[in-house]
Amino acid sequence: MDVRDAKAQLRSALKNRRDSLNQELQEEEAKKILPLIVSLPAWQNSQVVCLYASFAGELPTQRLLHSALQSGKKLLLPRVNPHHQPSLHEVYDLEKLVLSPLGILEPAESSPQVSPQKVDFFLVPGIAFDKQGNRLGHGSGFYDRLLAQIKSGAFCLGYAHDFQMVPMIPHEAHDIRVHAVATPTGIIQTQPAS
Ligand SMILES: Nc1ncnc2c1ncn2[C@@H]1O[C@H](COP(=O)(O)OP(=O)(O)OP(=O)(O)O)[C@@H](O)[C@H]1O
Ligand SMILES: [Mg+2]
Repeated sequence: MDVRDAKAQLRSALKNRRDSLNQELQEEEAKKILPLIVSLPAWQNSQVVCLYASFAGELPTQRLLHSALQSGKKLLLPRVNPHHQPSLHEVYDLEKLVLSPLGILEPAESSPQVSPQKVDFFLVPGIAFDKQGNRLGHGSGFYDRLLAQIKSGAFCLGYAHDFQMVPMIPHEAHDIRVHAVATPTGIIQTQPAS
């Protein structure tokens, strides 16, 4: 099986599992992760953070979004355009986000755009991660394009349920790894295979 097919198979299996979780459990898991993330030095030392608004069956991020604003960080969220080119925009008020055609809450187009080079900390969504930091996304390459543009030294944290940590994710040359993955049972520091 080639890498594309292997990714598609894993994506579909894990999405089904994730989509079967009820909202209550999702919120409980998100509550457990929050204190783990906010006590990370990489979070505490960051001034500009790029997070994302969870949608559909994704592990909720709302608490972390609020926490970023409350602690005075500059909060950026991505906007997805039809060509899947990333643009990051500053958010001052979570009530002012607008629903995109894909059903994701995004900053309005008029909100100030900020270069990915300015970001100290990225929260990275994924359908699955492995201990090498490989990541399986939705398959558009949006996050791979975005993370290809960041400054060296920026910290990339995956965000996932425990069952989304899998032994091995098939990956290609364009796939960008994360530095660690936050799950409800702990932060997993990832190690590239040598
Ligand atoms: N830096 C890049 N420049 C151009 N195309 C890219 C880049 N990164 C990824 N792509 C394209 O995006 C497509 C999807 O990539 P991939 O299967 O890795 O998605 P994914 O990581 O699961 O999704 P996502 O990043 O949206 O969460 C690939 O076919 C690849 O050609
Ligand atoms: Mg990828």
